[in-house]
Amino acid sequence: MFAGEVEFLKGVVAMSGLPPADRVEVCFAGRSNVGKSTLINALTGRKALARASNTPGRTQEVNYFTIGEACYLVDLPGYGFANAPVAVVAKWQALLKQYLQGRQTLRRAFVLVDHRHGVKQVDEEIMSLLDSAAVTFQCVLTKADKVKATDREKVLDQVRAALARHPAAYPEIVLTSSEKGDGIETLRSIVAGLS
Ligand code: GTP
Ligand code: MG
Repeated sequence: MFAGEVEFLKGVVAMSGLPPADRVEVCFAGRSNVGKSTLINALTGRKALARASNTPGRTQEVNYFTIGEACYLVDLPGYGFANAPVAVVAKWQALLKQYLQGRQTLRRAFVLVDHRHGVKQVDEEIMSLLDSAAVTFQCVLTKADKVKATDREKVLDQVRAALARHPAAYPEIVLTSSEKGDGIETLRSIVAGLS
């Protein structure tokens, strides 16, 4: 499916701006700077489709991408620290939560967690929100190229323990590096299997 035409559809700033709920969608959530936009670029094989940057708070809208007619990929603003005015951040945080709780066609949320840092309190809050909304979420560890070999298992255990606390968590964790390409094909087949 990723061989099909991939396009940016629109950036949404309010629930009323969401495109018609006429197909399956999957979204990418996670703390600011965890690598959501970069992962979408890696999945679609397009370097600058989703705008990524080293400044936390880069993505400030709910960004829709189409893969042919098959499904929507949704790049979300991050949560946690962001290098943006407080009022602006508050606005996108509210939209993020409304979106995660209220989008009928949201088939799965991928919750991205930095493999170096593991699951933080803010991730737990989003996971709890997804539990209450009954949206299945799957944890994707990012930046695997940056994690020290000695920390790898320790962080994985911490993530597994966190997921075990959340009924909406899909048990399989996907390890990725957008930089090196690890796990990207696996994630592509997961997304393809959902649409
Ligand atoms: P916000 O939009 O601000 O919430 O951030 P984001 O989660 O979309 O992160 P983004 O994709 O913009 O990436 C943040 C930084 O992490 C960029 O400098 C990326 O190049 C870097 N990055 C993302 N994925 C990887 C990875 O797998 N490995 C390495 N080494 N760096 C990565
Ligand atoms: Mg982003």
